[in-house]
Amino acid sequence: MVTGYIGNHIFDLHPKENIKDLFGRDDEYKELERLVKTEWVVVLGRRMVGKSSLVKTFIKEHDGIYINLSGIRGFKDFILSIASQLGYSLKELSLDLKFLEFKWSRIAEDIFSRLENKIIALGEVQYVSSIRFLRLLKRIWDEYPNIRIIFIGSMVGLINKLLNPSPSSPLYGRKPAVIYLQPFSKKKSREFLIRGFNEFNINISMEEIENVVERLNGYPGWLAYYGNFRCVRKLDVETSLRYVIDEGVKIFEEEIENFLKGKKRENYIKALRIISIGARWSEIKNELRVNSKVLRDILLNLKNAMLIAEDDGYYYIPDPILRIAIRSIRV
Ligand SMILES: Nc1ncnc2c1ncn2[C@@H]1O[C@H](COP(=O)(O)OP(=O)(O)OP(=O)(O)O)[C@@H](O)[C@H]1O
Ligand SMILES: [Mg+2]
Repeated sequence: MVTGYIGNHIFDLHPKENIKDLFGRDDEYKELERLVKTEWVVVLGRRMVGKSSLVKTFIKEHDGIYINLSGIRGFKDFILSIASQLGYSLKELSLDLKFLEFKWSRIAEDIFSRLENKIIALGEVQYVSSIRFLRLLKRIWDEYPNIRIIFIGSMVGLINKLLNPSPSSPLYGRKPAVIYLQPFSKKKSREFLIRGFNEFNINISMEEIENVVERLNGYPGWLAYYGNFRCVRKLDVETSLRYVIDEGVKIFEEEIENFLKGKKRENYIKALRIISIGARWSEIKNELRVNSKVLRDILLNLKNAMLIAEDDGYYYIPDPILRIAIRSIRV
């Protein structure tokens, strides 16, 4: 007997790539379509909000190229990865690598010159933050106006260099457009769960839906994980919730640790802790005992990294899983 749903389903844990599997992102998709005609675009958003799904689906529909940059540490690595993901052998490219330690930028340009008229999506861009990469982007901008680029990112780093280039940056005056992807509304989150459970012919009670939406808060990634635990692995409600939260906490811990590198850890952790219960500027200042300038920098960095949000002087952390992760980070 066949049980459950065969083929792609909404609780699949990979980024979606087919338009029929992309749930609830019609407006963002249209916005991307509109912007990409004339501009480079950055799709920005917190972890698990569905950036890769939106962009991969878009790219597939538009015969573009999606290049995954996660794990890439430097410029050479970047070029090699692009070449291999596009299926170019290095021999085929105009230059022979043996001699040419210093000509990576030209190899890169050669690759890009073959991509005229294409839309190229660069995933997880935060890891390639070198000046050479920025210069390459400037060359592409100047020389190949028909190449459109979509950047995806969740943290600052390069994204910040793209969005706020300093006057000395090669990208000064070439600011890309931004699509800031938000979590689903409560209504959409409920519909997401219902559709997924329906695909498996499994009933879900209103009570379960409300409980899950309350605890996981509109992040399609966490909702998909939950649905997967419930419908594919057949776990019960509490176990599924616990597993999702454990998984999420792990991702956030790593993200926070990356963010803290090179920063004054104690201040940031204190700030995150108090903000995780919600706090005003003065309360945070009292807690940290730092001057206003230092505090302003701390809060700005945390905001840029999308670890906190602000509403008219009130600082808080929207993601319930991130709030839990903060409790377990040591000073
Ligand atoms: N609009 C959507 N419709 C259906 N499923 C989605 C949607 N958005 C995200 N998902 C699901 O949520 C999970 C996370 O999505 P995705 O990888 O696109 O997020 P992301 O923002 O790129 O995450 P990360 O920051 O970790 O790279 C995947 O299982 C994906 O299938
Ligand atoms: Mg992604």
